[in-house]
Amino acid sequence: MSDRHLIVLNVNGEPHEALVEPRKTLLDVLRHDLGLTGTHVGCEHGVCGACTVLVDGEPVRACLMFAVQAESAEIRTVESLGRDGELSDLQRSFSEHHGLQCGFCTPGFLMLAEGFLAQRPDAGREEIREAVSANLCRCTGYQTIVDAIEATATRRCHAKEKEATA
Ligand code: FES
Ligand code: FES
Repeated sequence: MSDRHLIVLNVNGEPHEALVEPRKTLLDVLRHDLGLTGTHVGCEHGVCGACTVLVDGEPVRACLMFAVQAESAEIRTVESLGRDGELSDLQRSFSEHHGLQCGFCTPGFLMLAEGFLAQRPDAGREEIREAVSANLCRCTGYQTIVDAIEATATRRCHAKEKEATA
């Protein structure tokens, strides 16, 4: 008898069916069943944050969550950021501020920052530094990642102010 379950995951605004064993992680289902390989695999122990995705808006380690636990949640992966071949403001900022070198950690940082800025749109530099300490990057020394997120926060705040006064 198969112990696989048919589940429906809402990923990046679309429902996806997958036949999965209960022990299969959200990370493996995203990458292997749904082909969303932008979410990277690092330590698989919840330490590095390379696998960070948003689950109902919260940054979550996809290697620590079973896919069956994510049914009925709204999941966002790094593939949701760009639209129609255009990078998002946050992705552009990472590029402008050289917030990546090897880039392996980048999808995790982008989703961490996306979730963080949604909750703390006017966060200051110190708060951003604390937030990014959740994930590991061996290349950048973090300064440029913090610069990129800070610049995005500033831009988004200015855009909102402009909108309010228009
Ligand atoms: S792969 Fe999930 S935290 Fe490292
Ligand atoms: S850019 Fe290489 S680990 Fe972060």
